[in-house]
Amino acid sequence: MKILVIGSGGREHALSWTLQRTRRAALKIYCAPGNAGIASVAECVSLNATATRELAQFAEERGIELTIVGGEAPLAAGIVDEFESRGLLIAGPRLKAARLEASKAFAKDFMARHRVPTARYRVTDSATAALEILRSGEFGGEDSPIVVKADGLAAGKGVVVARSRREAEDAIKNLMLKGAVGPEAASRVVIEEALAGREASLLLFSDGRDYALMPAARDHKRVGEGDTGPNTGGMGAITDKEVLDDETLRRAVQEIVEPTLQGARDDGFAFRGVLFIGLMLTEEGPRVLEYNVRFGDPETQAILVRLESDLAQIFEAVARGGLKEVSGSWSDDASACVVLAARGYPARPETGALITGLERACQHEGVEIFHAGTALDESGRLLTAGGRVLGVTARDATLEGALARSYTAIGDIHWEGMHYRRDIGKFVE
Ligand code: AMP
Ligand code: GLY
Repeated sequence: MKILVIGSGGREHALSWTLQRTRRAALKIYCAPGNAGIASVAECVSLNATATRELAQFAEERGIELTIVGGEAPLAAGIVDEFESRGLLIAGPRLKAARLEASKAFAKDFMARHRVPTARYRVTDSATAALEILRSGEFGGEDSPIVVKADGLAAGKGVVVARSRREAEDAIKNLMLKGAVGPEAASRVVIEEALAGREASLLLFSDGRDYALMPAARDHKRVGEGDTGPNTGGMGAITDKEVLDDETLRRAVQEIVEPTLQGARDDGFAFRGVLFIGLMLTEEGPRVLEYNVRFGDPETQAILVRLESDLAQIFEAVARGGLKEVSGSWSDDASACVVLAARGYPARPETGALITGLERACQHEGVEIFHAGTALDESGRLLTAGGRVLGVTARDATLEGALARSYTAIGDIHWEGMHYRRDIGKFVE
């Protein structure tokens, strides 16, 4: 079977590697554009992930039988609609369903319509009205936390959890008047009640009718230990029984997962693909923080090392229907992915540093190293080529064991300016 994976990060390396590891039939994987690590499990194709027409043309020419999309940008660019209009099989949501991630206002209105529990909110496309909503006190007094979100895709930079009304006002000015995340993404904002609790990421495969849950994960978004410093794409992730207890999971399925999938069907866009539900586990029960219409990065790395079923078969069922017959099976282990980042990440990552020690690090039992920002130079040496560089991923019977394996392997890896969090898997209350 010929499969095309779209993307170039640690997530896409984990996807390509897992497709090979769990295959039941011979696979040829292409990845566009890929990276230096992905090149060891797939043939990299130098096409941009959002060049939807060129990618579809490539798929037609090479006889690709199934395409898997990693990130949100190609989905928001309409890659699924483009492929499907040409009769090409692709596992992902169409544009209409991708709006659950591409527009936070759309997602909030969707949740309200289908009674999916989430933070109270207001939407506006005027900065004056936004400031007025803050002053009205409907989301708390001057010292209350309040959340301001740019409506559109902003690569994780569009959400401000303000600690006071003053900070929320600054956020509105930065987003709406100064264009901090570009003019498009924040022409409209969502203002919402700040929720308190632990977070969890619940991912599932859906074929539009049936769904299969993956093990729940938790990521660490801030760059610094103790959850300090700016937000990043994610500095590490874990899966473990403790992330979501059985009762909370039962509630999340009944109150959130099923109404969401049913709501999408009722609204005429049966969801096909991977749905990633960001949850806040509040005292009143689980609440949705956001929907993503794709795998997370680095959650995927931690989740997929536990997959025991054939991933290609699952994705084929997602795209074609029939997921009920192939539901995934997962190992009982816990897992951890620790991200190694380049100096300057997330603001201005340095690239071009020589990475050493990787061969040795790969030999530790139960450890897989997924590449994100890496490239080879002319003489075949491995260099840093992005902000998040490697995801050192391990599984073990316990979370402590998985973390110990990752951190031991990291001890072998070096480059000038490498940094990572030493507290992945620990709660910060
Ligand atoms: P989002 O992109 O909407 O998931 O927001 C990114 C992060 O902001 C989440 O993972 C939370 O840590 C935080 N966040 C978002 N919405 C809220 C909320 N209503 N209350 C508290 N924290 C939030
Ligand atoms: N790690 C969060 C995300 O992929 O959106």
